[in-house]
Amino acid sequence: MIEVIEKRNNGIEIIRLSNNCLVVDVMNLGCTILKFKTKDKDGIMQDVVLGYEHPEEYLQYDGYLGAIVGRVANRIKCGKFVLNDVEYNLPINNGPNSLHGGNQGFDKRYFNYEIHNEQLIFHYLSKDMEEGYPGNVSLTVIYELEDDKLIISYSATTDKDTIINVSNHSYFNLDGLPTNIGEHELRIDADSIAKIDADVLVTGEILNVENTPFDFRESIQIKEHLYKEYEQLSYALGIDHPFIFTSTENQVTLYSSKTGIELIISTDLPQAQVYSANYLDGRLGKNGLPMAEKSGLCIETQMMPNDINFNPNSKTILRKGERYESKTSYQLRVRT
Ligand code: BGC
Repeated sequence: MIEVIEKRNNGIEIIRLSNNCLVVDVMNLGCTILKFKTKDKDGIMQDVVLGYEHPEEYLQYDGYLGAIVGRVANRIKCGKFVLNDVEYNLPINNGPNSLHGGNQGFDKRYFNYEIHNEQLIFHYLSKDMEEGYPGNVSLTVIYELEDDKLIISYSATTDKDTIINVSNHSYFNLDGLPTNIGEHELRIDADSIAKIDADVLVTGEILNVENTPFDFRESIQIKEHLYKEYEQLSYALGIDHPFIFTSTENQVTLYSSKTGIELIISTDLPQAQVYSANYLDGRLGKNGLPMAEKSGLCIETQMMPNDINFNPNSKTILRKGERYESKTSYQLRVRT
């Protein structure tokens, strides 16, 4: 079932998707997931994403909690890229680089929506040169439930060659509270990660995870790796790296023994930026509880960040007449 549960006088509308397994509240501002609920091993409903108490707070703060990020997720070196021999300049909003689509990325935009055949269909027209990016981009983001899965599908077209790399930026905590994420068990089907520099910018260099703190090929408590002395970890104050998948489904599993809830992510995208909420600063979230650093884990499925600057065949290029499409599902269940 999909129903509009709130219309606020500032234009924010909240829509609820629900079935026997899941309750998901989403708002039209940034297609942001506000609540993502399922029952734990004791039958108690748990909300497994971090968020603010009031929808308006999403307008005030950075952090991209629960939102769709884009046009281009993650960092672009010095906010510059060249496409068809033209240099484009994007807003610099993260050290020397441009992050998550600029100052007013998709997370700060109001989407139109319709409800059709048990799908919540968001639409946004991103105008030519919005935040410095070329092309009028027509973006559709669809949320739907299928048993214990939330499925998010993205599609986009443009009237001029451009770049695109959209993702969802939910911070998961399967304890249902902003506890330290270290006790969660994490498995990622990835033999390698992309390296970052001291500004957390992807450099194009690849690192094999063997004998590194990025080896999550077997499920392991995150704290076993997170606090190790390792240059790549010190650059980001934790994990904040693209993990390059070696499988094509069920690539990531996150598990909390406290609630027994596990999250299984399946995507047709080649990798995910896994981010251990290193820059959350203790700001207050739902129920007035502080969201400290490491109190959530983002698993942002996407294409390789910044590769427009080092890969002439970057998959982030969307040509006029082509269609960008991707799909990611988030399954929540109690591990038996
Ligand atoms: C990035 C982090 C950044 C965060 C902002 C993540 O996707 O990888 O480096 O600080 O978003 O909330």
